[in-house]
Amino acid sequence: MSKQGYLLAIDQGTTSSRAIVYRASPKTMDVIGRGQHEFKQYFPSDGWVEHDPEQIWQTTLQACQDALEQANIKASELSGIGITNQRETTVIWDRKTGRPIHRAIVWQDRRTSSLCKKLKADGLESEIQKKTGLLLDPYFSGTKVQWLLDHVKGARARAEAGELAFGTIDTFLLWRLTEGEVHATDITNASRTLLMNLNTGEWDDELCKTFDVPQSVLPTIKKNADHFGDVSAALLQKGETASDKIPVFAMVGDQQGALIGQGCFEVGQMKSTYGTGCFALVNTGHDIVHSEHRLLTTVAYHIESKPVYALEGSIFMAGAIVQWLRDKLGIIQQAAETEPLAEGVPWDQSEQLIPAFTGLGAPYWDPDARAALFGMTRDTGRAQISAAALRSVALQTRDLLKAMADDGQVVDELRVDGGMTDNAWFMQALADMCGHPVLRANTAETTVRGAAFLAGLKAGIFDDLTQIQRLCTSKGKFIPELEKDAREQVYARWLAAVEKVR
Ligand code: G3P
Repeated sequence: MSKQGYLLAIDQGTTSSRAIVYRASPKTMDVIGRGQHEFKQYFPSDGWVEHDPEQIWQTTLQACQDALEQANIKASELSGIGITNQRETTVIWDRKTGRPIHRAIVWQDRRTSSLCKKLKADGLESEIQKKTGLLLDPYFSGTKVQWLLDHVKGARARAEAGELAFGTIDTFLLWRLTEGEVHATDITNASRTLLMNLNTGEWDDELCKTFDVPQSVLPTIKKNADHFGDVSAALLQKGETASDKIPVFAMVGDQQGALIGQGCFEVGQMKSTYGTGCFALVNTGHDIVHSEHRLLTTVAYHIESKPVYALEGSIFMAGAIVQWLRDKLGIIQQAAETEPLAEGVPWDQSEQLIPAFTGLGAPYWDPDARAALFGMTRDTGRAQISAAALRSVALQTRDLLKAMADDGQVVDELRVDGGMTDNAWFMQALADMCGHPVLRANTAETTVRGAAFLAGLKAGIFDDLTQIQRLCTSKGKFIPELEKDAREQVYARWLAAVEKVR
C-alpha cells in the first residue's frame, strides 16, 4: 500500500463549511488546498436555531471543489475522504427525493426544553444517563427528532412507513455525497443522539420508545475509520469521470475529530476546542466513566476492536460571543480586534459577562438561563466588554476543569485549538483562570486534521496512531502568571454571578 497520498477532509461546522486537501505521509501532513463558505443562521424564535440543509450541502460541495482547485489535483487522485461535523444538529429527509422535510434543528436550539423537563419529572434522567452518558437537555438529537416528527404535518406516519431518514450532519452529507446510496453514521455522532446505548454501540429499543423515534428512520452505525461509501469524482470536479469513485474512509463528530487531530490517544490527555462553542474532552480509555458532576460520557473514537471513551464538558458560547460583539453590538469589526482592546483591562475588572445567550451548558445544564452583563460603570466601553467576553470563555473552561477533577480526571495541561486560540490575550487569560499551562496546537485546524488522519489510517497512509501522534506538536505555551489568590477571587465572583442568571 502506498505510504503517501492526497486526502480530502470536510469540516461542516456551525457557521461555515470547510474543506482541506492534504498531501499526507507518515512524516508530513501538508495543507495544499482549502475552501470555506459561511451560511445563514436562522433564529425563528427565542432560543431556536436552524440551518437550511440545502445551504449546508451547497456550501460543503463548493468548499470541496475550491479546495481541489487550489490543490491543483484531480479528484480521482484522492486516496480517500474524511468527514467531520457539528454534532447533534438534526435533519430529516425524504428517502425518495432526498429533500429535507424541515430546516435542520441546530445543536444550540432550546425548543425541546419543556419536553426534557417532562422526561426529567418522570424520573428518567438517571436511567438515560446510565445508558447514553448524556443528560436530558435539548442539546442532543433525540428530542429534536421527536419534535420534527410531531410538528411537521404527516411526518410521523411517513416515518413509520419507512419513507423518511434521520441523520446528523455527517449522515446527511454522506447521503448527498453518495447520491442517496448510503444511510450511515459513525459511533461518535450516534453517541450524541440519546438513542444509542453506550455499552453496546447500538440503537437502543427502549430509548427509541422513550423518545418516540421509529427505528426505520435511523442510519447504520459504523466505526470511525471504515469504508462508508463512494463518491463520484464528477460530483467533486467538473471534467472528471462519473465512474471514478473516491471512498469516504472516515466520519467523526467534530470534537472527537479535534481530540484525534491533537493526538490525545493516551488516558488522561485532554483537549479543548474554541469554535462556536467550547468543548473539552479528556480521554478515559476503554472505561466508561460516568460523571457525577454533570459532564457527559461520550465515545472518543472507535478504530480498533474496542471503543475508547471520553468525558466531555460542553459550553455553548465561545467564539459565538465574539461574533455577538461584532454582529449585534457592533463594537468590533473583526474578531482579532478584541486582543488589542482587552490588553490593559485589569484582572479585577468590575464588568462580568455571563454568556447564557442560549442557556448554559456543562456543568449547569440550564436551558432557561439568559445572558447578562454585570458591574458596568461610566468607564465601561468596548475594551472592558471585550475583555469580559474573552474572560467569560476562560472562566467557563475553569468550570469544566473543576467538574473533571471532581470526577477524578485531573489534567495537568490544556491542549487547545480552534479560531479563538489565535488571540494571545485570551490564551494568557485561559492559563491564568485555569491555573494550568496552555499548549496551543501547531495548527488551529485540528478538527479537520482529525478526520483526515482517520481517512489516512483507513487508506493505509498511516500504520497506526503512534505515527499520527508524532505529527501533533504544539506552537506556543502559556504559563499562568496570575497569583493563586487573585485567580480564586475572580473565580468566586464568577460563580456568584452565574447564580444571578439562573
Ligand atoms: O456539539 C456541537 C459541536 O459539535 C459544534 O462544534 O465547532 O461547530 O462549534 P462547532
